[in-house]
Amino acid sequence: MTLAVHNIEVVYEDVMLVVKGASIRVPRDGIVALLGANGAGKTSLLRAMTGLLDVHRGRVTRGHVSVDDQPIDVTRAPEVVRAGVSQVMEGRRIFVEFSVEENLRIGAYTRSRAGVADNLDRVYQMFPILGTRRGQRAGYLSGGEQQMLAIGRALMAEPRYILLDEPSLGLAPQVVERIRDLIVTIRDSGTGVLLVEQNAAMALSIADHGYVMENGRIVMDASAEALRDDEDIREFYLGAGTSAGSLREVKHYKRRKRWLS
Ligand SMILES: Nc1ncnc2c1ncn2[C@@H]1O[C@H](COP(=O)(O)OP(=O)(O)OP(=O)(O)O)[C@@H](O)[C@H]1O
Ligand SMILES: [Mg+2]
Repeated sequence: MTLAVHNIEVVYEDVMLVVKGASIRVPRDGIVALLGANGAGKTSLLRAMTGLLDVHRGRVTRGHVSVDDQPIDVTRAPEVVRAGVSQVMEGRRIFVEFSVEENLRIGAYTRSRAGVADNLDRVYQMFPILGTRRGQRAGYLSGGEQQMLAIGRALMAEPRYILLDEPSLGLAPQVVERIRDLIVTIRDSGTGVLLVEQNAAMALSIADHGYVMENGRIVMDASAEALRDDEDIREFYLGAGTSAGSLREVKHYKRRKRWLS
């Protein structure tokens, strides 16, 4: 049971090639981290997987995506949701003028009415704060609560796989910890997780496997444990201090240092 991306290429406005043949696999029982510097192409890859490129004048020009060995039509966002893949977009994107519960109901548009009630119960159990504030305007929630709402909304579709784009962005450390625990709960309840994060330490602390993306390509593909132990990853992503702009630069400087010494 796997969500698989096969050799995907993404082009914006017919000319800008930003994802240059990327392949990744997310098992149903796993958390997979996708790391990479700003502009590497992580968000574009997620958009390519969920039919959201259209609105950004982007297109998949090569490759395909399959869910549990069935190819899916990634040009149609509703079909992707029906196939069991939900995405939580970068920057949360909740409807601030709608109530908390209205936001959650929007996430369940592929479900029957009975299913919706059950799913609401489940989400309120997972995020009690959302239950308490179900009638309030979503815009009044704190940043962390809005992130929980965005995740809750994606869960309303009962996804087999969930894609999270930087869920820890801009949140206080305790809130990040809470989100991290929730991601583990989601995985343990049978939903595979693809976790895009700038916060590599957080992502690798719970991930089973990880990919590093640079300039539109996957440049590392290893177990989370191996990535945590990798010296270059530590230096570039885990804040061991470097002024290099990319993983490749870290390697380059090190080679030069070895050569000079
Ligand atoms: N709608 C668009 N039109 C043209 N270029 C775009 C568009 N969206 C993104 N890009 C470009 O594609 C490249 C990859 O961007 P993307 O947002 O996928 O990177 P990212 O890895 O998610 O970065 P970040 O960590 O900053 O979120 C960047 O050079 C970006 O400027
Ligand atoms: Mg991004």
